[in-house]
Amino acid sequence: MDLSIIVPTFNEGPNVVELLRRIEDALTDRVFEVIFVDDSTDDTPDIIADAARTSPFPVRLIHRADPVAGLGGAVVAGFQAATSRWCLVMDGDLQHPPEDIPRLIDRAEQGDVDVVVASRYASGGTSKGLADATRTAVSRASTALTKAMFPRKLANCSDPMTGFFLLDTQAVDVEALRPRGFKILLEVLARRQLRVDEIPFDFAQRHAGTSKATFTQGVRFLTQLAMLRFGRMSAFALVGGFGAIANLVIMWGLIRLGMDYVPAAVVASVVTIITNFLLLEYLVFADMRSESGRMLTRFLKSFSFNGLEAVIRIPVLSILVEGAHIPAVLAAALTLVAAFVLRFVFHALVVYAPRRSGRGAPHPDAAPATAGRRTLE
Ligand code: GDD
Ligand code: MN
Repeated sequence: MDLSIIVPTFNEGPNVVELLRRIEDALTDRVFEVIFVDDSTDDTPDIIADAARTSPFPVRLIHRADPVAGLGGAVVAGFQAATSRWCLVMDGDLQHPPEDIPRLIDRAEQGDVDVVVASRYASGGTSKGLADATRTAVSRASTALTKAMFPRKLANCSDPMTGFFLLDTQAVDVEALRPRGFKILLEVLARRQLRVDEIPFDFAQRHAGTSKATFTQGVRFLTQLAMLRFGRMSAFALVGGFGAIANLVIMWGLIRLGMDYVPAAVVASVVTIITNFLLLEYLVFADMRSESGRMLTRFLKSFSFNGLEAVIRIPVLSILVEGAHIPAVLAAALTLVAAFVLRFVFHALVVYAPRRSGRGAPHPDAAPATAGRRTLE
């Protein structure tokens, strides 16, 4: 297999020589090129050009004077410039160890996958190189949310946010990719059902320089996620909103019929929990029912979650109001939003969890790679 190694760089000068040295050592008897797609504002392009002159293998530099779409856009520019069909994408700061590349290639050469993902979260991998506990928590939470939004396409991928992967560019429509910000792999995987497998790896410390991840990148990522996935979650929100209104209407009706408000609230809640579940079954997750086990099991999981949510939300509310002195209505809104997100994640990942298909094999009823997007996921 010929290989194009794509390295997006933004002010990574001190890492260039070391990266090329380690790539060379790791890939002794391979044919490959390295393409730096560089948006730097410092002397990084000069350092790359110097290194290219003495390199025993082809080192190409694409310096984008007018960068579009940040890191993701740089990777797509790399795909477009690559001479090989198989492209390996990795960071330029040595957080992605070049020594892992042969394992990615070996897996791809088995011939039954479109993309091999180097995962921090597959068993055996680590994410110790993440800067701090906050970064780790953000990474974990956004990974769970992302997987919940694409439970089928990401079923075989534990780390859709990694920037280290080997892709058969013929399995994707490169021109149709719309990268926004940092997460190009997510964009690739969310567009089409690809055959995915992964290898674990240890996410290392940065060799030199500083991270370019920012809060703005985080906001961009959320936008990307919402744009890629508006379908299922908005339907889920509609069902939830409908349930809340139905709950109040039923309670009001029962009280008018002479029932005390406490039993009225209980009856209204039970009725809406059941109708909501049926709406989720037949509307929101209809396409995932056949592969997620028995309906009774799903109902019990969903029912328990709703019960537990009610039991936990009230004390959290009182802590926010009494302890953190947040106005009651704002605090209630915060707990409702948090509960909504948690409920969606729980339903998509636990209640309707697809039974894991054979590693690397496409989902049995998945659209073929050439068929483009499916309607729901
Ligand atoms: N060309 C280009 N343009 N490269 C960029 C840009 C940009 O706007 N922004 C960042 N890069 C390059 C960096 O120079 C580095 O080689 C790589 O992209 C990753 O950026 P870092 O600054 O090292 O960010 P990180 O370590 O927080 O992010 C990495 O880990 C994430 C997982 O937590 C990246 O691998 C992400 O892709 C990955 O999702
Ligand atoms: Mn990094």
